[in-house]
Amino acid sequence: MKSFKLLITGSNGLLGQKIVYAALDRDHVDIVAVARGANRLSNRDGYVYESLELTDEATVRECILRHRPDAVIHTAAMTNVDDCTRNPDACRRINVDAVQTLAQACAETGAHLVHLSTDFVFDGQAGPYRETDATAPLSEYARSKLESEAIVLAPANDGCVIRTIIIYGVVDDRQRSNVVLWTKNSLEQGKTINVITDQFRSPTLAEDLAAACLEAALRKARGIYHVSGQETMSIIDIASQVADFFGLEKSGIRPVTSAELNQAAKRPPRTGFIIEKAMRDLDYRPHTFAEGLAIVAAQLKKKAGPTEPRL
Ligand SMILES: NC(=O)c1ccc[n+]([C@@H]2O[C@H](COP(=O)([O-])OP(=O)(O)OC[C@H]3O[C@@H](n4cnc5c(N)ncnc54)[C@H](OP(=O)(O)O)[C@@H]3O)[C@@H](O)[C@H]2O)c1
Repeated sequence: MKSFKLLITGSNGLLGQKIVYAALDRDHVDIVAVARGANRLSNRDGYVYESLELTDEATVRECILRHRPDAVIHTAAMTNVDDCTRNPDACRRINVDAVQTLAQACAETGAHLVHLSTDFVFDGQAGPYRETDATAPLSEYARSKLESEAIVLAPANDGCVIRTIIIYGVVDDRQRSNVVLWTKNSLEQGKTINVITDQFRSPTLAEDLAAACLEAALRKARGIYHVSGQETMSIIDIASQVADFFGLEKSGIRPVTSAELNQAAKRPPRTGFIIEKAMRDLDYRPHTFAEGLAIVAAQLKKKAGPTEPRL
């Protein structure tokens, strides 16, 4: 059987790491993982790793032309929403211009492009959303992502857009946090955390999303796909469920409204996705949030290794 060559950008990131691991579990998939700086995955076997700065147009082109992948899954992005507001030029260079370079190189070599986007393309007045619903981005990050979607979906390019919502999971290097690890670690350390009461999201297990991205690449899916967890809840409910699951004291969770928190970038109040299309076309079967937490707990336990024997 002919092997399928898959190039994954942002392989040091939360989703990128999980896609590399999901692809390693498949036969006949040759993996090229690219990310900024050194490889931060703990498993270094079974794939090629290269350092790649996405804003360096010539290097990005050279990388795609040299590897000639069958598909590229583009997870890398400037993902800090407030940083994008504070530094719109950098946001544009990474989230829009780099996608243009990548899409052009993919079109030239016939590579299929799977591009990651966000629920923030919506204004959050009418969630849960279908792929066909009207977009109305509220922030620099959201506008950059919507622009990048248009690039990938242009007729000259062959690809799809996977929109997702709050990704959670365990990462190899432990530098990067997400809502589940942040809540767990903060409460364990006795910290008080400000948690938003009036924003509603569907948290997405990184492994579930990675599986959908891989299917989209292998099946050369086209168009837009909504891929998230199935339960929509307030951020404070998410934090509260994390505390309950790990048996942590909830007094450190301080409820705040979006107005009180006054973050640099405006966020949509209520998103959530209708995920029927992904379930139908990509065999997407998300875990429940409770199941996802159990998977996270098992992974954390494994990473911690065996406890010291009591002698
Ligand atoms: N996380 C979420 O809750 C969420 C929600 C909706 C949509 N998304 C989208 O899903 C995708 C994956 O998210 P994620 O949480 O996995 O992101 P992440 O953990 O922040 O990873 C993004 C990766 O992109 C890399 N990157 C940033 N700028 C780069 C550059 N100039 N050159 C090369 N690499 C660069 C980062 O490198 P460094 O590690 O070196 O910084 C990082 O490893 C993104 O496209 C994001 O917009 C995420």
